[in-house]
Amino acid sequence: MLKPQFEMSPSALIDPAFRADVLAGFASRPRAIPARWFYDRAGSELFEAITALPEYYPTRTEARILDTAGPAIAAAVGAGRAVVEFGSGSSAKTPLLLRAIAPAAYVPIDISGDFLRQSAGQLARAFPGLPVHPIEADFMHPIALPDAVAGLPKLGFFPGSTIGNMIPATSTDLLRAMRMSLSTGAMLLIGMDRIKPADVLIPAYDDAQGVTAAFNLNLLARINRELAGTIPVTAFRHRAIWNDMRARIEMHLEAVRDVSFEIEGQAFAMAAGETIHTENSHKYGPRDARILLRAGGWTPIAEWTDPAAHFAVILAEAQAPRTAP
Ligand code: AVJ
Repeated sequence: MLKPQFEMSPSALIDPAFRADVLAGFASRPRAIPARWFYDRAGSELFEAITALPEYYPTRTEARILDTAGPAIAAAVGAGRAVVEFGSGSSAKTPLLLRAIAPAAYVPIDISGDFLRQSAGQLARAFPGLPVHPIEADFMHPIALPDAVAGLPKLGFFPGSTIGNMIPATSTDLLRAMRMSLSTGAMLLIGMDRIKPADVLIPAYDDAQGVTAAFNLNLLARINRELAGTIPVTAFRHRAIWNDMRARIEMHLEAVRDVSFEIEGQAFAMAAGETIHTENSHKYGPRDARILLRAGGWTPIAEWTDPAAHFAVILAEAQAPRTAP
């Protein structure tokens, strides 16, 4: 094999926000790192493996709901909308929606440009005649949609219970920003994971094969790879706990012995039993979900669940600007 003529320095590929979040996260108490940093290449592949685990019900449950409810969703949203997907990733569930309704355009938004272009290309081939306008952006910030869809009514699509990663205050900020981006007459189809017994929830986030543990621990490996870290990964173990007061699964990485290490030349130490909080996955009862949407400027008008009511897909419409009461 030929040697590459130019080798890009690894630091050129490192997101400065990753560095800032990691250094701040290890310095704060409790230690915490935002869950979005799980998704490097290895982490994205591990997440895909999680979605196929017997214990991880959300992905297949939501897909089944979208499949079954397709005709009802089509009747409720009507034809001719531009579907705007927030955090489209591999766009795995998108064909289920696009097949069910008669969309006028598809606008996938994702922070990972490579992933985005690849899945947008696949989708465009699977739906010939459907205009596809990918946008590489962080959907947590307000987004200007392409002129080509300016005159079309929008349907926001936010599947996967991704909203569960955010604390409620951040969720309502995002919902409001979505309403602004999608403008008047918009609808939103959103997937939200339901509250259910801990004996179903815990295994979904602590599976027998240890794939979720590997997903969580990969964050430490990523820090070592990208931020010149010396973290002894084997000195940490994966923990998944149900926080009932806040109705969420929390993932942590727990030091199993006293450890000290460096990240980009800065020294850190953790005592045995101390943790780094790496993810929240909030769960919502039926009324919790509806009030969250209303607080974010969206009025729920229909919802669909699986027979066990493990997961909900909710359709909402943009609230008119606030009027009393
Ligand atoms: C992608 C945020 C929906 O919270 O269930 C899966 C991520 N973390 N297993 C979730 C995840 C551990 C997942 N979301």
